[in-house]
Amino acid sequence: MSDFPETDVLLDGAVRAARAAGDHALRNRDRRNEVEETFAHDVKLTLDLEAQEQAFGVIHERFPNDAVLGEEGRMDYDRSRPCWIVDPIDGTVNFAHGMPLWCSSVAVEIQGRVVAGCVYLPEMKECYTATIDRPAECNGRRIRPSSVPALEEALILTGLSKHVVDGSPAFDVFKALSLRARKVRIMGAAAVDICHVACGRAEGYVETGIYLWDIAAAGLIARQAGARTEVLQELGDFKMRYLCTNGILHEDLRRIMEESIP
Ligand code: IPD
Ligand code: CA
Repeated sequence: MSDFPETDVLLDGAVRAARAAGDHALRNRDRRNEVEETFAHDVKLTLDLEAQEQAFGVIHERFPNDAVLGEEGRMDYDRSRPCWIVDPIDGTVNFAHGMPLWCSSVAVEIQGRVVAGCVYLPEMKECYTATIDRPAECNGRRIRPSSVPALEEALILTGLSKHVVDGSPAFDVFKALSLRARKVRIMGAAAVDICHVACGRAEGYVETGIYLWDIAAAGLIARQAGARTEVLQELGDFKMRYLCTNGILHEDLRRIMEESIP
């Protein structure tokens, strides 16, 4: 790491980039019906693209030689230099419907390890941050996962991929979890879900197909808060099966996922 900027410099860049993306989307939310592309279970907004350009603008100005990887069409991934991993709007469908649970997520990866990350929720006025050498915080205050010891008392968060079809493993996992946990919720933004595990509002988050830009910053925040994260399976093209828990319920949740996926 010695040839690279200090982690607090990187975190400052991540916060500025996430705020640039999120605040742009928030300022322009009356344009949330401007659609670039519609899919069966998803939508791509003009504001997704604009917000990513805002984040990239901040990153390129401060770190002109670094690589960038964004959800919205620029794949510049390169492990030989620091790489900034951006989801300008995570929870686009929520945002498009006027639901406030969405965020902007920016992570910095160096030599394959995420070292700083920010998840910013403009409407909820929450800014989650972490670096690899310091504890995770929300709005400057230390956060910790819950100590709920049993699945029967647990709130578990999950999501459905935009590519969901009849027979998707997400349905099997949802059913198995619903029968064991106190409640399973689909809130609509993976990075927000993972931050909710990090700060103790939920005990676990699982998803059968989630992308690197959704989990890069939030995963670091969760680990630095004291939660546990795990990639259960790499699915290619930055997609993976993923698990984040308060630690105590980790083995239980992993077992349920493994046993319920056909
Ligand atoms: C989606 C959200 C959702 C998750 C999907 C993601 P996007 O990201 O994080 O919660 O279930 O798998 O694709 O498209 O809103 O950035
Ligand atoms: Ca997105």
